[in-house]
Amino acid sequence: MIEIGSNHTMAVPPLFLLLLTLLSLPHLPISAAAASDAYPSIPGTAPVDGGFTDELKPIRREVYGEGKIFDISHRYTPEMPAFDSSEGLGLFLWLAASIKNGSLANNSEMKMPTHTGTHVDSPGHFYDSYLDAGFDVDSLDLQVLNGPALLVDVPRDTNITAKVMKSLNIPKGVRRVLFRTLNTDRRLMFKKEFDTSYVGFMKDGAQWLVDNTDIKLVGLDYLSVAAYDDLGPSHLVFLKDRETILVEGLKLDDVKAGLYTVHCLPLRLVGAEGSPIRCILIE
Ligand SMILES: *[C@@H]1O[C@H](CO)[C@@H](O)[C@H](O)[C@H]1NC(C)=O
Ligand SMILES: *[C@@H]1O[C@H](CO)[C@@H](O)[C@H](O)[C@H]1NC(C)=O
Ligand SMILES: *[C@@H]1O[C@H](CO)[C@@H](O)[C@H](O)[C@H]1NC(C)=O
Repeated sequence: MIEIGSNHTMAVPPLFLLLLTLLSLPHLPISAAAASDAYPSIPGTAPVDGGFTDELKPIRREVYGEGKIFDISHRYTPEMPAFDSSEGLGLFLWLAASIKNGSLANNSEMKMPTHTGTHVDSPGHFYDSYLDAGFDVDSLDLQVLNGPALLVDVPRDTNITAKVMKSLNIPKGVRRVLFRTLNTDRRLMFKKEFDTSYVGFMKDGAQWLVDNTDIKLVGLDYLSVAAYDDLGPSHLVFLKDRETILVEGLKLDDVKAGLYTVHCLPLRLVGAEGSPIRCILIE
């Protein structure tokens, strides 16, 4: 079923109550209910539980903290999609020194484009003058990247145009919005081949957002917030004022639309116009 609009907001308890709840609850294992009544589930991942096992085997989770902390970053794997590539990310991580070969410790090395997987763009990504001036990912405002955020479902039959933006009725004052699109339904971030038909912002949609809303954090569920056909134009609109921060490649499966607290932290890569980013939503 497709849900449209921003009327799925949930009441958010005052912060101190939330903290009290988090601190006082015993760490009891809970069922998979949190996943089952939300959005389509991610194959191959464990249900929500306490995270302990008798075997020497880690439990990989999407949800933590008794179902209240959602990991909305994707895992980095060789099979994850890479922009404009049919091969996926490929080998990006290797064991440069290993215990088995006589080293004191295992030490891995990695190499990958900064715009890989769940990542952030800085103004320097599409404006050369901004990159020269130092508007790299280390200059991004953590206050924009952290705070109350709305997760909204976008109509599934269209890219994000001015008309769509208008129809979402996102209230003034909302500063952070994560847009869930057909990309999530199509599981595009779980497919190795890059797909140019992904949904994203058309130029007029980006312009409408900048002109008519208070949104400063724009999140989307594929490798670019801009539709492929408007790649340059949409980015240029978003990044021009150096106030809007773009988070791309978010994992928005298994989370209900509504109001959360988002936390996104890029790496402090001096001189880089992109960075992998870890994002979580707290209910
Ligand atoms: C440590 O290196 C060994 C190979 O020497 C490898 O089998 C093992 O998986 C490594 N452990 C981790 C945590 O990477
Ligand atoms: C250990 O060294 C051998 C020989 O150089 C190499 O073939 C092998 O891949 C290395 N293994 C690891 C885990 O680094
Ligand atoms: C969105 O735009 C892309 C081109 O950027 C196009 O291939 C795709 O069909 C569009 N999606 C929808 C749902 O209109």
